[in-house]
Amino acid sequence: MVSVVRVLQAAVAETKQEVTINQRTTNMRLFDSHPDVQNTFLPFRGLSNKDMESSAILRAHALRVMATVEKCITRLDRIDKTNVILKELGHRHIDYQVKPKYISLMGPQFMMAIKPHLESQWSEEMEEAWTHLFRIISYHMKKGLRPSKAEQI
Ligand code: HEM
Repeated sequence: MVSVVRVLQAAVAETKQEVTINQRTTNMRLFDSHPDVQNTFLPFRGLSNKDMESSAILRAHALRVMATVEKCITRLDRIDKTNVILKELGHRHIDYQVKPKYISLMGPQFMMAIKPHLESQWSEEMEEAWTHLFRIISYHMKKGLRPSKAEQI
């Protein structure tokens, strides 16, 4: 786990800017491959790809995903607290009408977007580290996406 943390910390520190910019590409790819996901972002309904590309909301979400990734990386030593934060974040995604299956799509799309910009540093170890991190994020967010029993009554 220590080496996973080191690999991710280095990757994030050196490429934060590029990752942020390219998260926009991530979202576009997500929408292309899964058009139904686009409707989740209420403000994007009916918008063309070009309009979406320049959307401030999409850019804002890209920054939010990136901030969550960073939060997880800096807090991997306080994993219990991080898990609760992720679960709560997942729970808030119920209101955003996000289906659990969409959450798992984010990791692979994110990696596809950042990989070309990290080419010189990219390694099997780094790919495994990102995959591992997104697996953790997705697992806990999806837990929170399930409505609580009290809410189902
Ligand atoms: C790794 C997966 C994801 C992370 C870390 C993430 C993170 C976030 C964060 C931090 C916010 C800010 C609001 C809050 O804290 O409640 C947010 C909002 C939102 N997310 Fe996500 N999200 C993820 C996946 C998705 C996916 C897959 C979708 C849609 C298919 C989505 C749709 C939205 C929408 C519609 C909002 C509200 C509008 C906005 O603030 O941009 N999210 N997300």
